[in-house]
Amino acid sequence: MEKTFLMVKPDGVQRNLIGEIVARFEKKGFQLAGAKLMSIPTELAEEHYGEHKERPFFGELVDFITSGPVFAMVWQGENVIATARQMMGSTNPKDAAPGTIRGDFGLTVGKNVIHGSDSPASAEREIGLFFKDGGVVEYSKVV
Ligand code: CMP
Repeated sequence: MEKTFLMVKPDGVQRNLIGEIVARFEKKGFQLAGAKLMSIPTELAEEHYGEHKERPFFGELVDFITSGPVFAMVWQGENVIATARQMMGSTNPKDAAPGTIRGDFGLTVGKNVIHGSDSPASAEREIGLFFKDGGVVEYSKVV
């Protein structure tokens, strides 16, 4: 079963959007396979966002993602990686369609409420980084 890594960012947690966001993926039909509220250590943030290391906003990105608790999740289901990205909307909320998470709740590209893996390789890498000590369940029967 395909899995992806999704994370409600500090702005989404502080604005009490965890329930709203979880509900959208549940109602779509995906299954929650792992979840934890956590603070991200700087080293983990730098590794997670390693591909952006040379970007001018890298420092800002790491500062923001470590600024408060995040809600890290693993979701599973048919085409969950691509479908979750569609449900999140464009990275920059100003381009995100109404009805998407960023379109409905985001304002700026930095504080864009949610992160989601963009490919199977990223999903595997990010689940491995955030759930390296376990916490991802298996469902014996998928309905
Ligand atoms: P995310 O999907 O978590 O992956 C990389 C993040 O970089 C992205 O969401 C944005 O929040 C962030 N980002 C992209 N461009 C900028 C920018 N110009 N300034 C600040 N943050 C940015």
